[in-house]
Amino acid sequence: MAQSSTRMKWVFMLVPLFLLHAFTTTAEDGLVSNGDFESSPSNGFPNEAIIEGPSEVPNWKSNGTVELVESGQKQGGMILIVPQGRHAIRLGNDAEISQDVPVEKGSIYSVTFCAARTCAQLESLNVSVASASQTIDLQTLYNVQGWNPYAVSFNADEDTFRLVFKNPGMEDDPTCGPIIDNIAIKKLFTPDKPKDNAVINGDFEEGPWMFQNTSMGVLLPTNLDGETSSLPGWIVESNRAVRFIDSDHYAVPQGRRAIELLSGKEGIISQMVETKPEKPYTLTFSLGHANDKCKEPLAVMAFAGDQTQSIHYTPNSNSSFQIANLNFTAKADMTRIAFYSVYYNTRSDDMVSLCGPVVDDVRVWFSGSNGLRGLGFLHLGLMILGLVLVLV
Ligand SMILES: *[C@@H]1O[C@H](CO)[C@@H](O)[C@H](O)[C@H]1NC(C)=O
Ligand SMILES: *[C@@H]1O[C@H](CO)[C@@H](O)[C@H](O)[C@H]1NC(C)=O
Ligand SMILES: *[C@@H]1O[C@H](CO)[C@@H](O)[C@H](O)[C@H]1NC(C)=O
Ligand SMILES: *[C@@H]1O[C@H](CO)[C@@H](O)[C@H](O)[C@H]1NC(C)=O
Ligand SMILES: *[C@@H]1O[C@H](CO)[C@@H](O)[C@H](O)[C@H]1NC(C)=O
Repeated sequence: MAQSSTRMKWVFMLVPLFLLHAFTTTAEDGLVSNGDFESSPSNGFPNEAIIEGPSEVPNWKSNGTVELVESGQKQGGMILIVPQGRHAIRLGNDAEISQDVPVEKGSIYSVTFCAARTCAQLESLNVSVASASQTIDLQTLYNVQGWNPYAVSFNADEDTFRLVFKNPGMEDDPTCGPIIDNIAIKKLFTPDKPKDNAVINGDFEEGPWMFQNTSMGVLLPTNLDGETSSLPGWIVESNRAVRFIDSDHYAVPQGRRAIELLSGKEGIISQMVETKPEKPYTLTFSLGHANDKCKEPLAVMAFAGDQTQSIHYTPNSNSSFQIANLNFTAKADMTRIAFYSVYYNTRSDDMVSLCGPVVDDVRVWFSGSNGLRGLGFLHLGLMILGLVLVLV
């Protein structure tokens, strides 16, 4: 009897959930509608034709000189880069494309997209939703392919995002302007703080959408606002990006994701963690090699409170990573932990592509006496007692 009433309760709880799910159509994680620009316009793909005016690119609104480009297409003797598939879009001076994306109000969304610059000039891309915008600098070449996946994140203030990609540049040469492709979104969640670790998302398992076929990771540009970061819990503090990498294409110390630090001091990630003043803590993390032909030496500078230490990558035997630690005494209720690469590394095969040390599995815990462990046992005891009482 008791059992069946519990079951009824579950059914009653699940039905509204099901209905809720059926009637709210927010965008699924992955490509937005025609996010890869492979859907054919009603009059077919243009042959080097420029589309002007609205609604010529299926599912997108455009304004200004927006051009569908095809892989292999040449311009001024230069072959245009199409990051994925056969087609991509190019934005001329002051041109933009936009799409309304249904989202869940109050949630944080990360937008992943691939972008390439077409000329050597300063090129940038302004990505915005109604409430916020971020300008991505395409000047830095992070690899020899000439394009990169990037991720930016936004807070959903409304039920719909008007996702806008705009070329804010005013180039002398109107044929210059960024190419974009593969636009995807992902609803982010912030993992709970583990009991024995003050670091949120210290294993970097939660982050932006990654394309399975793309072996270049995802660049995370500066995001000074820790509340809406593509890497929940973390802040990218520097003026250069760090790379979010996956175990399908890189050596990752733990789980499926990690961070590769790029550009020396110009690529810093940090987090404010909860601590108790005047108490001793230990910071540990995995320091690794991404197995991406990155030329050694590799080293990170690790910060925890008032302690700073540079740690060189010298793994034992054939492991691709080592465990590093740093002891510190907290000075306040919050302690900043941060990492950057000591060197400015490039790949040994092309000497151009930026790479660096991998950081993963970051933990901070109270290391004074066995107090915490004792407390842990006490908790466990109380929990068991509580469970016994409930069962009785
Ligand atoms: C198109 O862009 C121009 C210049 O940025 C702007 O003045 C105009 O209002 C835009 N049109 C639409 C329909 O958004
Ligand atoms: C980016 O676009 C948004 C919305 O159109 C605008 O408010 C913001 O000023 C732009 N930023 C830059 C740097 O152009
Ligand atoms: C990924 O690669 C596979 C095989 O090469 C291909 O069939 C598939 O269409 C690709 N997917 C995307 C999204 O590019
Ligand atoms: C690493 O070394 C161990 C023995 O020390 C060996 O069994 C293992 O196959 C090695 N792994 C790789 C990937 O070379
Ligand atoms: C930190 O302290 C632990 C013992 O509490 C010790 O084993 C470890 O070597 C220390 N780490 C450093 C870098 O001094």
